Amino acid sequence: MTYIPSKARYDAMEYRRCGKSGLMLPAISLGLWHNFGNITPFSTQQAVLRTAFDHGITHFDLANNYGPPYGEAERNFGIHMQRDWRPHRDELILSTKAGYDMWPGPYGNWGSKKYLIASLDQSLKRMNLDYVDIFYHHRPDPNTPIEETMGALDQIVRSGKALYVGISNYNAEQTEAAIRTLRALGTPMLIHQPNYSMLNRTIERGLTDVLTREGVGCMAFGPLAGGRLTGKYQNGIPRDSRIGHDPRYLKPEALTPGLHACIEKLERIAAARGQALAQMALQWTLRSSAVTSALIGASRPEQIEQNVAALAFPALSAGELAQIDQALACLE
Ligand SMILES: NC(=O)c1ccc[n+]([C@@H]2O[C@H](COP(=O)([O-])OP(=O)(O)OC[C@H]3O[C@@H](n4cnc5c(N)ncnc54)[C@H](OP(=O)(O)O)[C@@H]3O)[C@@H](O)[C@H]2O)c1
Repeated sequence: MTYIPSKARYDAMEYRRCGKSGLMLPAISLGLWHNFGNITPFSTQQAVLRTAFDHGITHFDLANNYGPPYGEAERNFGIHMQRDWRPHRDELILSTKAGYDMWPGPYGNWGSKKYLIASLDQSLKRMNLDYVDIFYHHRPDPNTPIEETMGALDQIVRSGKALYVGISNYNAEQTEAAIRTLRALGTPMLIHQPNYSMLNRTIERGLTDVLTREGVGCMAFGPLAGGRLTGKYQNGIPRDSRIGHDPRYLKPEALTPGLHACIEKLERIAAARGQALAQMALQWTLRSSAVTSALIGASRPEQIEQNVAALAFPALSAGELAQIDQALACLE
């Protein structure tokens, strides 16, 4: 059936400026790392994407190797693009990335110009797009000069195949070098995509300062720690959960007794606020002024609805933030 987006789609979402750029991004963005490969029904994928857009999520994030198998999330998105999104292309921010292993041989991985240019060309074909809005280098490459990798990003923008560029998983020092190198070429760094949640606060030790100082946005991925910050694993592993049906990356070993105890405490704080733990986890990630958007995943439409509803709750108070720190201390 022809998709007609909700007329109310821009009513509840908050849009935040991405660093010092002209681009506004939704406070919650949707990633297609999981649930868009060949193990998820196409109808579920479609419902998740439609629900996201109906709730003001204007940004979908992909990468060359999202699947399974590699490439499949982009290929599926290309079909969704044809069926649902073509008339709404100018209301969407679409991103992809290259940096991890994608095809065999020395040119399908890391950060050479050869890899990045070829990979984006492949992604555009799979996604049925003329250009992406954001193209990321997915991880730092210790063996390729930063000048070459940033030179490739600069060339990609100049060729019109991406409007903006960013980096992902670079530490504070690597980020400073990348920003400087790209700026010298005349292309600003739009955004960094790091992991950030209550369970991984690494970016607070230097990276957020760099991003704020340099006016670069921050797309915080995994704010629910892959689902661990929802409480769903407190009584075992549900079959319809990520660990239950697709444990390629998040494994049962991640569910330690210490984590269970910590989640129990966090659930009590969330309950006192009258919200789900997932909602509090999202508000916690978004409390940082350095963070532009929280990049979630979702396996079903109801999760999107619950997650976007987090934005309507009052901000976390200083007292609640202290309680959260205390609850997290048991993990240290
Ligand atoms: N740059 C990088 O290196 C990198 C790395 C990883 C991810 N990313 C990006 O970040 C995106 C998000 O990563 P992620 O999926 O790990 O994020 P996440 O938001 O931490 O976890 C999402 C998962 O949590 C569960 N969930 C979501 N909302 C829920 C709710 N309200 N109640 C209960 N369960 C809920 C769902 O899993 P189940 O229902 O299946 O249990 C969902 O797939 C990716 O798609 C990708 O775009 C980037």
